[in-house]
Amino acid sequence: MIVSTTSNAPATLDADLLLVPLTQDPSEGRIEALAGRFGQSLVRAAEDYEGEEGSVRVAYPEATAAPRVALVGVGTAHDLDAEAVRRGIAAASTAARDHAAETVACLLPQEGDLDDDTAAQALVEGFVLGAYQYRRYKTDEGAVGPSSFIVHAGPEADEEGVRAGTERGRRLAEATCTARDLVNRSPHDKTAQAFAEMVAASGAHYGYEVETWGADRIQAEEMGGLLAVNKGSFDPPTFSILRWHPEEAVNDAPVVVVGKGVMFDTGGLSLKDTKGSMDKMKSDMGGAAAVVGLFEALAALDVPLNVIGLLPATDNRPGRKAYVPGDVIEMHSGGTVEVMNTDAEGRLLLADALSYASSTYDPALVVDLATLTGSCIVALGSKAAGVMASETEAAAERLYAIQRAGERTGERVHPLPMYEEYKEHLDSDIADLTNVGGSAAGAVTAGKFLEHFVDAPWLHLDIAGPAFLDKPDGYAPAGGTGFGVRLLADYLENYVVARTPA
Ligand code: BES
Ligand code: MN
Ligand code: ZN
Repeated sequence: MIVSTTSNAPATLDADLLLVPLTQDPSEGRIEALAGRFGQSLVRAAEDYEGEEGSVRVAYPEATAAPRVALVGVGTAHDLDAEAVRRGIAAASTAARDHAAETVACLLPQEGDLDDDTAAQALVEGFVLGAYQYRRYKTDEGAVGPSSFIVHAGPEADEEGVRAGTERGRRLAEATCTARDLVNRSPHDKTAQAFAEMVAASGAHYGYEVETWGADRIQAEEMGGLLAVNKGSFDPPTFSILRWHPEEAVNDAPVVVVGKGVMFDTGGLSLKDTKGSMDKMKSDMGGAAAVVGLFEALAALDVPLNVIGLLPATDNRPGRKAYVPGDVIEMHSGGTVEVMNTDAEGRLLLADALSYASSTYDPALVVDLATLTGSCIVALGSKAAGVMASETEAAAERLYAIQRAGERTGERVHPLPMYEEYKEHLDSDIADLTNVGGSAAGAVTAGKFLEHFVDAPWLHLDIAGPAFLDKPDGYAPAGGTGFGVRLLADYLENYVVARTPA
């Protein structure tokens, strides 16, 4: 989508559809101002308008260059935040498609107290993410979606801020769409190797480094967890290393971001049921996809932070050589794990990446993103990811910061307790630990498993719920959502601010 800004008078904007964000309780003055600009037909539309978030009323005023003007509900002025704007405008992107509008212009919200920069960013994110469609495998033409979005900065607006917010919004939305595309791709089109090639292409395009290891190097590094999961597969595993090294970086010790890259999770010999379970498992690389999107965002926004991405990748299948329940495997860390369920595979390859990160980079911070447990969906549904960290003072601050980033981006995270007692669920009679802890607190025992392999400040995000949706929700479509890209971009930008001398 082409995204731009203008400060020409709204009535002269040459667009197929002009969007006017409006709260549920607009003042008389606001309606009068609209009447002055767009004429009485808009006032009549306003009479039918309810204004709750996501309601859209189209009017056909005579005195505007745009043939249609739509009032777009963004909820109450009191609750007007970036998320309300994103959700409201996403509904308007659907209306744009219904009206075959290719060029859509949009005014800034005139109510509430959002600054123009934040408002412009939210408008663009809501519109671009809301208009997203995955059409790679569609053979029909489909309804023509909007191709151009223009944010209008009025005479009182902070023009520089509007321009900056619009650009940020575009870059973040595009990076999120990259992650969505990767998740939505058919499993047969994303073997670990094919995925690594897509990552390399992204790196070449956006200007970050990508190195990919094949089976030989993974063996040489003794990544026993990744290798065990891969044994039942026809396709070799890969381990991709992404590097964003800007000149002006505020840190020496890098931040390492790890993404679970299970290209397809059949469960292995502990085979999943098809309906409502295995039929969603192309999304099991949602963590890795989000890391790719994050690197695009870091590069596009030129974030001054050294960041390393680690993407262990394979599918999990019950092939002839598949690992079995009872197998004891030797991990990259040198420790051993008794596999009690081959469907608890994600933690095995993440553990290798986490111990590799800890022993290689001496990282300032490690963050992992993984579609790790069904248990996390039971606990939190799809509206939030679970976030876990070792229970230390410093972790409390990190947890607070990422929750704040979640509120700002609408990619919410909720903390789960990492009590020491839950570690006991992983006791094994014959190895250092087992890979499953029973049905109680499953998201937490998975977190405790990972914790065993990390030796650095750390955050674990279980994104099983929000990474992939059965039906659309606001600006998130059914299928891959790209969850984590905007969250971590926001978190890391604030991490930079906290480390920049005033
Ligand atoms: N990829 C799944 C988790 C998952 C479930 C993600 C549903 C998205 C939607 C993971 O590999 C898995 O199978 N976890 C098991 C762990 C269990 C065997 C301890 C689970 O959650 O059932
Ligand atoms: Mn699994
Ligand atoms: Zn999995």
